[in-house]
Amino acid sequence: MTANNDFGLIGLAVMGQNLVLNVESRGFSVSVYNRSSEVTEAFVARHPGKRLQGALTLADFVASLARPRKVMLMVKAGAPVDAVIEQLLPLLDKDDIVIDGGNSLYTDTERRDAYLSAEGLRFVGAGVSGGEEGARKGPSIMPGGPASTWEVMKPVFEAIAARVDGQPCVIHIGPGGAGHYVKMIHNGIEYGDMQLICEAYALLRAAGMSTDEMADVFDSWNDGDLQSYLIQITAKALRQRDPVSGQPVVDLILDKAGQKGTGQWTLINAAENAVVISTINAAVEARVLSSMKSARLAASSRLQGPAGALDVDRKRLVALVHDALYASKIISYAQGLDLMRTMGEKKGWGLDLGGIAGIWRGGCIIRARFLGHITEAWRADAGLANLMLAPFFTRVLNGSQAGWREVVALAVGQGIAVPAMSASLGYYDSYRCAR
Ligand code: 6PG
Repeated sequence: MTANNDFGLIGLAVMGQNLVLNVESRGFSVSVYNRSSEVTEAFVARHPGKRLQGALTLADFVASLARPRKVMLMVKAGAPVDAVIEQLLPLLDKDDIVIDGGNSLYTDTERRDAYLSAEGLRFVGAGVSGGEEGARKGPSIMPGGPASTWEVMKPVFEAIAARVDGQPCVIHIGPGGAGHYVKMIHNGIEYGDMQLICEAYALLRAAGMSTDEMADVFDSWNDGDLQSYLIQITAKALRQRDPVSGQPVVDLILDKAGQKGTGQWTLINAAENAVVISTINAAVEARVLSSMKSARLAASSRLQGPAGALDVDRKRLVALVHDALYASKIISYAQGLDLMRTMGEKKGWGLDLGGIAGIWRGGCIIRARFLGHITEAWRADAGLANLMLAPFFTRVLNGSQAGWREVVALAVGQGIAVPAMSASLGYYDSYRCAR
């Protein structure tokens, strides 16, 4: 076996496979390994003519890579990452680089970083966002780890990442667990965005709008300052019909949300650092309450709410909900960034908040037009105390606050749960309270 492949990847689930195809399509030769050899063989067989080499043993896999070896793990976060590292350790040489591209807890990444560096190896905990499609076409990548790894990894990462205005959506985030930490905050913010969209939907639905009408609203919002991937796919999801019954799919899906853990980790970290992230908190808790379907069903016939329907002019309601959604979203990002700033300072990570918002503009799940304004805010004032105080965002909040209040008041009056919008408003009013 000749040791000349540019890149190696372990773990051929869909994300891993798509990342491999992305790396290969950018001109790199790639070795692949999967715990079950059949998966490796089938994957390589499905892609003839590509510069892919399947290895059936880890020893062969390692032997096929040029030095310093770059080995990316795309295995389930937690114990599987440690297990693969243990198997790799005796096979690797000094200065080789192990990259963990999963959603690992940043403290695990710190532990692995210390462990591997004591062995003379280099470890990169890299957040990778964008799901299966992003992995194939260009994700947003948040790599941490020793600065020396960035020079080696940069050509690969920059080649495979999404691009916005010609800029690749990847920067070196910082040492140790900084990359996975920033990915965790990204996910906390993602929870906030999704919950706010759910609340906007609940309000429009309560006003009697059909799923197609709501889809039109989300499409129109996607043409304006709320432009983002999540708003765009909400419109798309609302238009989906069940092929059998012809009913809107959203009306048929069980209203229970699960969670893999990154949102909860964000809450725990905020509590440890005494940083308020009430919007993200409300979003995580809303998922918990949503999952309690049978308890909600039982309570729905016993606990009363107000009578009557939401009686507001629809066009006006759409404009008000837009403002409430936009303002609440700004608060959610302000809180997530505040937590990131606090931890970055505490850990001495030297986080570039403007740069991080910049690489979130493309590839990742929270990609959105308004992230460009966040980058500008930190470029204009690196010591910005809170996103709300950047002139652009102050202007938006001041312009939205009346509508935002009206929406929260309407929702409270009608018994429609808007925990994230009201938590955001509570944060805004508390923060601006001089006494
Ligand atoms: C991404 C996503 C992805 C996933 C999270 C959250 O950036 O590509 O964040 O990682 O959506 O794991 O999953 P849950 O919502 O199931 O917790």
